[in-house]
Amino acid sequence: MDEPQTERQDLAGRHLVVGLTGGIACYKVAELVRLLTKAGASVQVVMTAAAEHFITAVTMQALSGRPVLDSQWDSRDPNNMPHINLSRAADAIVVAPTSADFIAKLAHGQADELLSLTCLARPSEHCALLLAPAMNREMWAHPATRRNVDRVIADGAVLLGPTAGDQACGEIGDGRMLEPAELLEEVVAFFQPKALLGRRVLVTAGPTYEPIDPVRGLTNLSSGKMGFAVARAAREAGAEVTLVAGPVHLPTPRGVKRIDVRTAQQMFDAVMPAASRHDVFVATAAVADWRPATPASEKIKKEDGGKQAPKFDLTENPDILASVARLPKAPFCVGFAAESHDLARHARNKLKSKGVPLVVGNLGPDTFGRDDNALLLVDAKGERELPRADKLTLARQLVREIAACLGGKGA
Ligand code: CTP
Repeated sequence: MDEPQTERQDLAGRHLVVGLTGGIACYKVAELVRLLTKAGASVQVVMTAAAEHFITAVTMQALSGRPVLDSQWDSRDPNNMPHINLSRAADAIVVAPTSADFIAKLAHGQADELLSLTCLARPSEHCALLLAPAMNREMWAHPATRRNVDRVIADGAVLLGPTAGDQACGEIGDGRMLEPAELLEEVVAFFQPKALLGRRVLVTAGPTYEPIDPVRGLTNLSSGKMGFAVARAAREAGAEVTLVAGPVHLPTPRGVKRIDVRTAQQMFDAVMPAASRHDVFVATAAVADWRPATPASEKIKKEDGGKQAPKFDLTENPDILASVARLPKAPFCVGFAAESHDLARHARNKLKSKGVPLVVGNLGPDTFGRDDNALLLVDAKGERELPRADKLTLARQLVREIAACLGGKGA
């Protein structure tokens, strides 16, 4: 997974208690604390006695920049009530790893050491409880754990994972803790405003690839980064998101359903049946307008020593955005205009030619492959610039604009 972009300081001003309970996944929490602090959060680590068998307080202190707390009898706080002070100061308690035993304790309101005391004492309206379970698959599947998990969710805890995969015990299955970068993404998402809660959002991203023969094709320089950022931002804002991606090698944003396609026709076929079930369609993909009419079934070879260039006819691809906008139950459609010049004029023309309420203009050569961009939003009311920033920041601004256009809940 790519190193997440932490220069955005997504967690600036947030104070987190990171609680470690007993489990081999403790070693990953060293990295998590580093990522959280790099993202701008201040972190106070609390460890149970079991956690201290797996990783030392020295490591966690060095990474968080604060002495680790591990006892309810710690007398350094003047009032001698660390569980109250910790839970009043924090925006969230992130328990990672959360053991089966700790979930059982939470489910029953047990509070016999500092971390469980702090969880029980938290004022739930301004201190969230985020749990990152980590355990063997049989322990995760056990009816007792299932009951306890249901209980703690009903009591207001938020589960981050777990996921399926290789386990430290050598078995494979559910119960593996999310990776540190995934946990960071989840914590950042948790704090984003939920402007699209309950909405369904469909996004296209990346280039398309139109085969000429089995080894060559027509494509373009789109990296897919803007579309992936839009999908992530929409999911952070509470939407259920489907991402139809052309051929790109980008990690799927957490919680987003991804459908991989190669050609414009495949993108069209994936989008059209799904579009009416969505509230919003954001077409960021750089769809090839043309494709070779009859791709060669075998590699085209040089004839006459290469003097004769091969000739092939092109045929037009379906216009996905315009087709979605024409549907009887069309979602709110957002088009992207990648131009090389006259951005405002071309973007405004596309409002009409595509029949959509919002077009986002950007200069192709200034955005393809880059991590930042600058956008021009064009709608019936006028134009608004979103100045140059990283693509996720811009995507979050765009999501807020879309939510405002939709009105109603969450906007
Ligand atoms: N688009 C689409 N299907 C196509 C072509 C474009 O869905 N076959 C969408 C893009 O995803 C984008 C918008 O239409 O949201 C505009 O794409 P762009 O390539 O800039 O415009 P074109 O319609 O191709 O016009 P031109 O190439 O002349 O600028």
